[in-house]
Amino acid sequence: MKTTLTVNDQSHEVEHDPRRTLLDTLRDDLGLPGTKKGCDHGQCGACTVLLNGERVNSCLCLTAMHDGDEITTIEGIGTPERLSALQKAFVEMDGYQCGYCTPGQIMSATAMLREVADGAPSYVSDDLGTPDLSDPEMAERMSGNLCRCSAYPLIREAIAMAAKADT
Ligand code: FES
Ligand code: FES
Repeated sequence: MKTTLTVNDQSHEVEHDPRRTLLDTLRDDLGLPGTKKGCDHGQCGACTVLLNGERVNSCLCLTAMHDGDEITTIEGIGTPERLSALQKAFVEMDGYQCGYCTPGQIMSATAMLREVADGAPSYVSDDLGTPDLSDPEMAERMSGNLCRCSAYPLIREAIAMAAKADT
């Protein structure tokens, strides 16, 4: 079957098995290996991409269900010459060790900062006002992205740095 996706502002028509996941389409059919396969079961967040602006685990998405949708991967938010604020902050803060989870962390944090700016509450928010970016808020909001190297404190510091740079 055929599905048309817009990935990082470029339109692609992909021919694929109906069971193909979006993760495999991005990595294997479109040659975008920045999105990582960790668990392939929706548990680690390494495969996080933006789907029409919302963060999703691409290993849980069937390509066939996303005809006409817009996808943004880590390759689409910055380049080595022009890093996004989050990419820059992860480098400056050493927000990684092996780096395998990093693309997913950055894509997830990109959406998370927008969710906070839009006033979306999390499980640990005190009320429904504009959430602050406290450490527990960040830990909760990023809890779907696991890091086997346990670089969590520096990941949160990098996100806090990027949030300040954006405001
Ligand atoms: Fe998708 Fe782990 S590879 S959540
Ligand atoms: Fe190694 Fe996160 S930096 S898994």
